[in-house]
Amino acid sequence: MSFLANRLQRIKPSPTIAMTTRAGQLRQEGRDIIGLSAGEPDFDTPEHIREAAKQAIDAGHTRYTPVDGTPSLKQAISQKFQRENGLDYAVSQITVGTGGKQILFNALMATLDEGDEVIIPSPYWVSYPDMVLLAGGQPVVVECGIESGFRLTAEKLEAAITPRTKWIILNSPSNPSGAGYGRDQMRALTDVLLRHPQVWILADDIYEHLVFDDFQFVTPAQVEPRLKDRVLTMNGVSKAYAMTGWRIGYGAGPEHLIKAMGKLQSQSTSNPCSISQYAAEAALTGPQDYIRDSRRAFQRRRDLVVAGLNECPGIECPTPQGAFYVYPSIRELIGKTSPDGTLIDSDEAFANALLDEKGVAVVFGAAFGLSPHFRISYATSDAQLTEAVARIKAFCQGCT
Ligand SMILES: Cc1ncc(COP(=O)(O)O)c(C=O)c1O
Repeated sequence: MSFLANRLQRIKPSPTIAMTTRAGQLRQEGRDIIGLSAGEPDFDTPEHIREAAKQAIDAGHTRYTPVDGTPSLKQAISQKFQRENGLDYAVSQITVGTGGKQILFNALMATLDEGDEVIIPSPYWVSYPDMVLLAGGQPVVVECGIESGFRLTAEKLEAAITPRTKWIILNSPSNPSGAGYGRDQMRALTDVLLRHPQVWILADDIYEHLVFDDFQFVTPAQVEPRLKDRVLTMNGVSKAYAMTGWRIGYGAGPEHLIKAMGKLQSQSTSNPCSISQYAAEAALTGPQDYIRDSRRAFQRRRDLVVAGLNECPGIECPTPQGAFYVYPSIRELIGKTSPDGTLIDSDEAFANALLDEKGVAVVFGAAFGLSPHFRISYATSDAQLTEAVARIKAFCQGCT
């Protein structure tokens, strides 16, 4: 009998965290490393949000709160959905957790039985398949390649649905590709989903505010109100307000699902940090200038990175609609040899050689279920990005 549970054998540690850790180790050894693997804004949390947290401490908001969030934070979330998405959610239809990650985890744990299928378009956020596996479900990965703009089409969705399909996870804009679904693209999917009443939709909107040019963000429950009774709309403050460490995410959906998720949370973590909840409330109800300013900065960086990478021989880098990632293809580099003589037979080999030889940490595409690609998080300074792109170019030029 093994000491560790079988369910743990089904999952792997997060490859993005592993890459970030490896880059950190090399840095400690004195190497000059540029880290482009971590998925978090490099900005500080805005001052008025930090102030709200300090005031919450001084006002004694340091005790347990209701398990799935304070009524006033839920009220602020309900108003956010109304204001930004045109969605009506009562406070009883809202749940707050320790990051968007816990919301996803609760939803899957609360609903999946052995063998239930979850459709996950790839490239996907690394945690989706593992969360499904942990909950006993079966991930059904549908590859959405560069030629389809990394987006799921109605035809592919229709073909993936079976009587055992319980959820589809839609993430727009996407981690890792940055691809976003416009209204028509989303409608094509919701039209299919209307015909399959057994399928629920998990909308991961965590990058909602990081959209560029004239891209208009939409979410499934807004595009097709007839689906609202089987949508869980998930969001959070991590990426929108540079609050990754505060750990506040939220979800909105039908009351019976929200209650089930709260029941699970009551037997695991209980309430998310009380102080963070007050900070999140300030983020959602206070001035929104940070969103506009960070969007501008990220768009500038996206343009810098896309232009630079497309000058690298062997790399093809589409222009994403949002988030702070690019997901270039390295198809033409597969089979070549790196400047220091490593055979690039996979995107993992590419990422390792790039780190070893040029000190640039990126995450290989296999981790996100679509190869041969790599992901760059451009949530770092323009100077670092310029240097990183120059190193990647030198690496590619040296491949033979
Ligand atoms: C697509 C996606 N969803 C959800 C999350 C979870 O965010 P958090 O738990 O910090 O709210 C992340 C974080 O990287 C993400 O990239």
